[in-house]
Amino acid sequence: MHKPLLPWPHVARARLAEHYLDTADVTGARAITLFGARGIGKTDFLVKDLAPVAALRGYRVVFVDLQGNIDEPARLIAEALKFGERSIDRLVRTFRTPVTRSQLSLGAAGPQFGAHFDHGDTSDSLLALARAFDSLKATPRRPVLFILDEAQTLARERHLPVIAALRAAFQKHDAGILRVFSGSSRNGLERMFRRARAPLFGQGGQQETFPSLAQPFIERISDWFEAQTGGADLDRAAARRGFAVLKGSARLFRIAVADVIAGAQPSILASCQAAREASPDLLVWQERLARLRPVERALLESIWKGRDELYGAAHLEALALTHGAPVSVSTVQSILNRFDRNGWIYRIEKGRYELDDVELEIALEETAQQAVLPLPALKAGRSRPSRPASPTRRKG
Ligand SMILES: Nc1ncnc2c1ncn2[C@@H]1O[C@H](COP(=O)(O)OP(=O)(O)OP(=O)(O)O)[C@@H](O)[C@H]1O
Ligand SMILES: [Mg+2]
Repeated sequence: MHKPLLPWPHVARARLAEHYLDTADVTGARAITLFGARGIGKTDFLVKDLAPVAALRGYRVVFVDLQGNIDEPARLIAEALKFGERSIDRLVRTFRTPVTRSQLSLGAAGPQFGAHFDHGDTSDSLLALARAFDSLKATPRRPVLFILDEAQTLARERHLPVIAALRAAFQKHDAGILRVFSGSSRNGLERMFRRARAPLFGQGGQQETFPSLAQPFIERISDWFEAQTGGADLDRAAARRGFAVLKGSARLFRIAVADVIAGAQPSILASCQAAREASPDLLVWQERLARLRPVERALLESIWKGRDELYGAAHLEALALTHGAPVSVSTVQSILNRFDRNGWIYRIEKGRYELDDVELEIALEETAQQAVLPLPALKAGRSRPSRPASPTRRKG
């Protein structure tokens, strides 16, 4: 006797949407960049909260999702600009899913959409992009909210022409288009907007850390759980702890709740722990960590523990212990550069770094919990003679 599941509720954050739009109004910023860890609800917010609130304020909203392996971003954006204009009313009224690549490929773009797989954008697409921006005729009185989700996807050499086209369009229509960029990699976003040679240098506007969902989310989901199960209580304190274990990932929390409802997990806290351990991203990070040299691993742990003075004598000595030989400043520097380039870490300021991926942080936490003593674990890793492949470039 399976009762059909009630739809998963969306916990609205209209006030946060108002806040971003007010910030743009007050400061005159024409762009906002939202950074937030994976799964914390950025896309849901952009589509279900920001878009409708902006539409009520008179913005025409265009939403572009660059998630995944986007081969022709200019074409995708150009189509979204055309498609978005027509569809956004429906999109915001019904809170439908965002305009995605698959929808577009079935829509106006016709079957040839995506046909130039892996060849990048053609000059036709770049022209189409510029024209699509022109035809919006955006002005401060007829403003457009242009949302680029997973913007860091463009931070690649081969997308430089797209970036240049975007930059030109933004400059041309500066007053009429409010840009919102979002992404889960501070490093990737920084590569886009902040570095001196970044292709969209200075175009990222106001930087904001996107907050994860909080107590109202737990409350609402607990109510939903009780409706779902015909009155069985969800232990709210445990749900809160579980949500913290998941570092605010609404995506993993949803999986954890579903597993409790299905009877696959005895309690919400156990279910959150299981969801965390089963997260596919975590497994990828665990494999990457296992391939690191002990000195690389130790350096990563230092960053995780918030240690500064990474080049200081005391730290170099500690690294030398795991390495079994002296470690020089330049060795540290080259490892840090590689981690940085590959998006593992993010440089807050000269010589100070933070991890740039929440799943990497969890992977380090998990192994630290498993290790009885950190040193033997590192030594065990050292006996592995093969040098790891350099950290692989992560998605987007
Ligand atoms: N406000 C919300 N209310 C209820 N559930 C939510 C909310 N936000 C997110 N979720 C749940 O979490 C899932 C993941 O959210 P979302 O895709 O928005 O995360 P994200 O931050 O964009 O992740 P990524 O970085 O991987 O793109 C959603 O599919 C939804 O089930
Ligand atoms: Mg997203």
